Amino acid sequence: MRYEIFSSTVGYLYTKTNPSHPPCPYCPLAGVPRSSCIQQSPPCAFPNVACLIVSSRNATTSTNLRDVLSNLVPKEQSRIKNFKTQYGNIGSISVDMIYGGIRGMKGQVYETSVLDADEGICFRGYSIPECQQLLPKAPGLAEPLPDGLFWLLVTGQVPTEEQVNWLSKEWAKRAALPSHVVTMLDNFPTNLHPMSQFSAAITALNSESSFAQAYSEGVNKAKYWWEVNSMDLIAMLPCVAAKIYRNLYREGSSIGAIDSSLDWSHNFTNMLGYRDATFTELMCLYLTIHSDHEGVNVSAHTSHLVGSALSDPYLSFSAAMNGLAGPLHGLANQEVLVWLTALQKEMGGEVSDEAMRDYIWNTLKSGRVVPGYGHAVLRKTDPRYTCQQEFAFKHLPDDPMFKLVHQLYKIVPNVLLEQGKAKNPWPNMDAHSGVLLQYYGMTEMNYYTVLFGVSRALGMLAHLIWSRALGFPLECPKSMSTNGLITLVGANNSS
Ligand SMILES: CC(C)(COP(=O)(O)OP(=O)(O)OC[C@H]1O[C@@H](n2cnc3c(N)ncnc32)[C@H](O)[C@@H]1OP(=O)(O)O)[C@@H](O)C(=O)NCCC(=O)NCCS
Repeated sequence: MRYEIFSSTVGYLYTKTNPSHPPCPYCPLAGVPRSSCIQQSPPCAFPNVACLIVSSRNATTSTNLRDVLSNLVPKEQSRIKNFKTQYGNIGSISVDMIYGGIRGMKGQVYETSVLDADEGICFRGYSIPECQQLLPKAPGLAEPLPDGLFWLLVTGQVPTEEQVNWLSKEWAKRAALPSHVVTMLDNFPTNLHPMSQFSAAITALNSESSFAQAYSEGVNKAKYWWEVNSMDLIAMLPCVAAKIYRNLYREGSSIGAIDSSLDWSHNFTNMLGYRDATFTELMCLYLTIHSDHEGVNVSAHTSHLVGSALSDPYLSFSAAMNGLAGPLHGLANQEVLVWLTALQKEMGGEVSDEAMRDYIWNTLKSGRVVPGYGHAVLRKTDPRYTCQQEFAFKHLPDDPMFKLVHQLYKIVPNVLLEQGKAKNPWPNMDAHSGVLLQYYGMTEMNYYTVLFGVSRALGMLAHLIWSRALGFPLECPKSMSTNGLITLVGANNSS
């Protein structure tokens, strides 16, 4: 039995289980290590009630995700009900936060992932290396199946191979696109950005919404969580994405048929037209590590906000994709490649460390940022960078572009430290992803954000299931005018 930590509920920090720590003397769940409970100081004030922080989740053997969730949902509903009745306010809000893009304001519950400044992103408490180690893999491939990651995101449990097989088959069954969406994609002009095509096609998939149908027929609220169509949309996304790719870059050739014996990533790479098993392995890694990043980045929050109006996942997720398409969100990987290509063009093949330093300083002195470096929360090398670097060392150690990326890793942080502005001088995942895709022949940079979007569906649509299960209401924070705020804080309006 593993004890899961639902840390994001009230914005508490995630702390890792230390098996050597003595069991919590208060916790009614016998054997839970005290260090698992993040409410250590002050000590847990509710020794006689079911622990709110740590909840035991026996791994369920059923291969049917719906059955597993039917067991989990009522337990989670009751845990949150208890929590809400026992606790009051948290934190405080500053005027600066309100003007600063509500940055750092704790205002949403999001269970599927938590970002830790040192560990990086943790999916249901599991770090990237732990996911790489624990999640089932396709035969002969070394990276985890994103299908298994979705199971983990939704249930908090590491799935068995049988459970992942069930999920892959279920997605294969649900993958067919309605003909009007295929026709729509075929009729888009080639100068329409792949992300615009992606978002428009997802909106049009709403014709398939059984949630919208069930809602109009007055389905009981308690059943919303499964009617949410998350599974259907995830199943269809690789087909939409592959169709866009083939139309734009492979002369409209057919994506072929879904193979129900293959997993989600393998079907995707087949439909894209890539037959190299190592590219499929890369796609498993890519789709896993890009899948989720807490709940209030632009795309995840958009999906949640639109979903809170009981819009179905087609409408919610397409809205999110419009946010992901923005240059401050999903386009950074593309910008890294543009910058690297310019560097290579200007400096030629082998670049000395000294010349590279000068190039980086020139970028900074011209008022630009070094793309792929820095992070708003992380204060170390992004584990998503590290696992891609490991992949590159294993599969493409002599690739000139990878060598360049690796050389930059040795130089950029020192330059950024010397400059003294960036709070985090270390690389993020975008510093590496494009180089790997290029190596296998996917050179169409405009398309990279679509891959990112396919992957992010796993996190956002897992969250949408829980939004419905927990009955999250219409999101409705209060906006204020500047004068209203000035009055609220008691400032002198004339100053
Ligand atoms: C990711 C990013 C947007 C985070 O922004 P942030 O939270 O405001 O970062 P910081 O608090 O460290 O910024 C402090 C200063 O350092 C600068 N800085 C941060 N990262 C930098 C970088 N990679 N190159 C140059 N300067 C950088 C900021 O521009 C800011 O300068 P300012 O005070 O003149 O405005 C920022 O690091 C960045 O622009 N990185 C490059 C783009 C990128 O890789 N994006 C993908 C993110 S996953």
